Amino acid sequence: MARKKIVAGNWKMNTVPAEGVELAKSVVAGRSEVCECVNFIVCPPFTHLSQVVEAVKGSDIAVGAQDCATEAKGAYTGEVAAQMIAALGCKYVILGHSERRQYYGETSESLNKKMAQAYANGLTPIYCVGENLEEREAGNHFAVCKAQIEEVVFNLTEEQFANLVIAYEPVWAIGTGKTATAEQAQEIHAYIREVLRSKFGAAAEECPILYGGSCKPSNAAEIFAKADVDGGLIGGAALKAEDFLAIGKGF
Ligand code: 13P
Repeated sequence: MARKKIVAGNWKMNTVPAEGVELAKSVVAGRSEVCECVNFIVCPPFTHLSQVVEAVKGSDIAVGAQDCATEAKGAYTGEVAAQMIAALGCKYVILGHSERRQYYGETSESLNKKMAQAYANGLTPIYCVGENLEEREAGNHFAVCKAQIEEVVFNLTEEQFANLVIAYEPVWAIGTGKTATAEQAQEIHAYIREVLRSKFGAAAEECPILYGGSCKPSNAAEIFAKADVDGGLIGGAALKAEDFLAIGKGF
């Protein structure tokens, strides 16, 4: 069976609700120009998740959140529970993004709890891994990604693993305009799949592994052509419907 092809947009802390709704509507409007085989996901800020769910209604575009709380509910001021996200009609949640690891102290310990919350509420996690520049230059990128997977993904049941998306995002390529070469992406994606295979066996062949980091219309096709690259997690280029859709044409 061929793996799912996914193009997911991580809007990060961009767009006010009206802009987000307009962006989502433009994606819906242009969606028919791209192969039906591509699964599009948009991940707006919490504040307009429900309006974006409404805006994509009737299309095959899915909506995801950018994070969720470690706890189910209660006295956790400022947090947003997986149950709340799922109740809006979201299907996905990005977990472990490098910006959250770097700026908000996200650890494997908190991520294990967030993954459990996501699954308990029927959300599919898009679990992010990736090394920073120093780690890449020291040749530690394989070890870093392996640890990020072993410490979190290896705790999943087989059933949970069957409902997981992984995103490899080298920190040095995020928002920098520097993209990993298609060869670099393939090398580490194949490695990540090998790590997954060591724990989950043949099920690893079904797990979509997305590339993220300055992915844009001009480089998507070359990267997506690689055997173990199943799509992209897009930041900056996801903020323009035309570019986001053009990336989908990279398949
Ligand atoms: P850019 O596409 O802006 O580099 O961001 C990638 C990313 O972090 C997506 O989650």
